[in-house]
Amino acid sequence: MLDLTPDRLVYEGKAKQVYRADNADEIVIHYKDDATAFNGVKKAQIADKGVINCKLSAFFMERMGAAGVPTAFLRQIGPRDQLCRKVEIIPVELVVRNVVAGSLAKRLGQPEGAKLARPLLEHFYKSDELNDPQINEEGAVLMGYAKAWELAAMREYSLIVNEQLQAFWGGLGVDLVDFKLEFGRFHGQVVLADEITPDGSRLWERGTGRKLDKDVFRRDLGDLSDTYREVYRRVFGESLPG
Ligand code: TMP
Ligand code: ASP
Repeated sequence: MLDLTPDRLVYEGKAKQVYRADNADEIVIHYKDDATAFNGVKKAQIADKGVINCKLSAFFMERMGAAGVPTAFLRQIGPRDQLCRKVEIIPVELVVRNVVAGSLAKRLGQPEGAKLARPLLEHFYKSDELNDPQINEEGAVLMGYAKAWELAAMREYSLIVNEQLQAFWGGLGVDLVDFKLEFGRFHGQVVLADEITPDGSRLWERGTGRKLDKDVFRRDLGDLSDTYREVYRRVFGESLPG
């Protein structure tokens, strides 16, 4: 079932590899321990990151499916491997923000930390060469990156994901500051794809402001492997085995 021989590798990303599956409508996503930041300029191996993120993303994708958001995720088939629907990735990344942070704070010259009155949705054109420039909906449609109805579905699903994740993290005493989602096309339908992990989210511990996400690596705030083990422990209620 799980065949990760090199001839099956169809795509290698910064944090994941994609392999052909037995069924032509499916792929295997393999989570690596690699961490990158600033579009690959900063790189490191983070012990167990792949195992931790694979399980976290599987957990969250299952919850999103149950909440009515169609997803590409099918099931976890190895410690760092998922069977997923083979989608055509829509080259528009959706960032949902609940709190001012990151590139929003930088772009507008504002400090991080102000709560937004409602979620802010931002769109970015998915392009490593261009460093994912921001784009608005009209631009995305006119450039042919996505149909208007696809963007509408993406926005609607992103808000559901935000509500679900905010409730989940809130229950653990963690504020969901922002996160990035990617969507794909599967048999004419828009489905949530890629991952939901602390690599693509900002998670701040309520009260202390401690960062429980990849900013620990981006900003040299500590050991990312220890941070992700802590996230794992909080989400699953037990330490990562081994
Ligand atoms: P930003 O503030 O840098 O635009 O990031 C917003 C959110 O998107 C943050 O939770 C991290 C996530 N993100 C990614 O998943 N991939 C990226 O390449 C970037 C820049 C951000
Ligand atoms: N994912 C991007 C990179 O690998 C940027 C980031 O997450 O900070 O460089």
